[in-house]
Amino acid sequence: MSKAARTRIFPPTALALAGILAGALLTSCGPGAGAGDAPPAEGAPVQLLTAKGLNPQAEASPQGRLLIGRGKDYTPIAEDPKALFDRLEGSMADRRKTAWSIVEALLAPQTLTLDGKAYEVPLWHTWYEGMSANPEVDQKIKLFIAQLAACKADAACKKTRAEIAQEVMAQGGTEKNLARSLTSANLTQVLKQSEGFDRGAPEAELGQGFTLFSPSFVEHVLAQAQGVETCSNKIPWNQPPPSASQFSPCVDEFPRSAVMVKTSWDEIDGTDPKVSAHATDAAAITAVLKGGSWPKPTLEPVTTNGIYAVQTTDGKVFGLKSIHFSTKDTREWIWISLWWSPKPDEDFGQDRPVSLAKFNGGVWSHYKMCVTTAFNETDPKPWGPYESGQPGLASAIKAAYDGATEQRNPAPYDKVTTWCSNPNLEHHTGNGRTNCIGCHQYSLTWNDLKNREAYFNDTYAASMAAEYPQYGRALRRTNFPAEFAWSFGMEFQDQIKAAREEQGFNW
Ligand code: HEC
Repeated sequence: MSKAARTRIFPPTALALAGILAGALLTSCGPGAGAGDAPPAEGAPVQLLTAKGLNPQAEASPQGRLLIGRGKDYTPIAEDPKALFDRLEGSMADRRKTAWSIVEALLAPQTLTLDGKAYEVPLWHTWYEGMSANPEVDQKIKLFIAQLAACKADAACKKTRAEIAQEVMAQGGTEKNLARSLTSANLTQVLKQSEGFDRGAPEAELGQGFTLFSPSFVEHVLAQAQGVETCSNKIPWNQPPPSASQFSPCVDEFPRSAVMVKTSWDEIDGTDPKVSAHATDAAAITAVLKGGSWPKPTLEPVTTNGIYAVQTTDGKVFGLKSIHFSTKDTREWIWISLWWSPKPDEDFGQDRPVSLAKFNGGVWSHYKMCVTTAFNETDPKPWGPYESGQPGLASAIKAAYDGATEQRNPAPYDKVTTWCSNPNLEHHTGNGRTNCIGCHQYSLTWNDLKNREAYFNDTYAASMAAEYPQYGRALRRTNFPAEFAWSFGMEFQDQIKAAREEQGFNW
């Protein structure tokens, strides 16, 4: 990946349509198709298929905007983080149950009212967009640096950085204009992880979408902006962490309410809309672990009743194909991924709680899920609890476990690692046998083999090399400079630097 590609910041959309509301388009949505799904609540508002003709730039007129209350922060699980970590590491059943309940919390709808009609917007969709044509985090960074510079120039200003960060988060209103987010430019932008790695695939097949961050995550990035920007990627892998409660030599660890999100969308317009999909049953997982890569997807028919769908200001409809959620409930984060499936009640969807069907007219019943909370799998039989009731899920989990058991390095990297990979996002050659946390430990680090900064694809391409044991799945580092967030190097460092230079401000 070239530095230029890695650091490209996408300009705000140039789409400025006539700011006339063409009439809200409300499709009626039935309950999800899955057996046993609860129907949506009486009169429930549904999908956000309303943006056509809205002017993303027009904030003033009610017709020109889609204002929604900025969602509250995520409430972390009320359990000691270490106890929670140990419990989830040792039990697949607890891990999956917890992950589904986190998903439920992050889907909790905020209501948007337009022309007297109410629509449901999941909590995560009201948060701050990072790598996006609607660069909300970047705007907060600019505000923070400007106010920090003003404070430094004023002898009477005694505010701490944390106080200024808190003030900046409270400024600019408590609402988000979704019309700025729902543009074709935003929904078709190639994700950083996919840039420059196209293996000849058409762009639509690569991940396209944007990242989002919870309010407390953004506030922490502001307060720690100096540490984020100046974080070196040359910290040795075996350098002890600064303290028992801080594993990053660059920043304080995030608060437990912090959440990172990454989305991936497909356009689903036309008479016969289709979305790419993959089998994730035991045979598919065995093949992915052995061969390393997700095979080419098949195209499957979809309707807006069966996928989380939004409409853009220029009238296109996009469906959410995949979403990653990472919460700081535990120090190593909880790594959850959902993918749309034409057979949502099989394998990784077999244990989905019916309660998810209550949101957005039931569309969330069409997603499967995997989760990782630790590098190692310490549940001795992670498929066990599913054997009798959910055999498809049991055999898929067993396939991943068996694959990881075969791929162990010599000691000390001889433990069985976890597996979790999203077929739509981790689609680069070799990236199917990874486990989220393993790759994310290497953000802002140095590749000693190549004597340059580490790229994400080094981690599994190096296969069983001692530097990236178990295809990057194993715990290798004693410190995590970027707190497991790839966005430090790919988004925030350049944004903070640019904002400083604009203000002529130095740390
Ligand atoms: C081989 C490396 C790799 C693997 C495996 C991987 N990711 Fe990522 N992840 C990345 C890169 C690179 C980005 C891009 C960061 C950006 O665009 O800001 C990213 C972005 C993200 C983000 C956005 C915020 C951030 O700062 O990183 C989340 C959330 C995320 N990944 C979760 C997951 C989950 C959940 C999984 C497992 C299902 C996963 N990732 C697997 C490399 C990886």
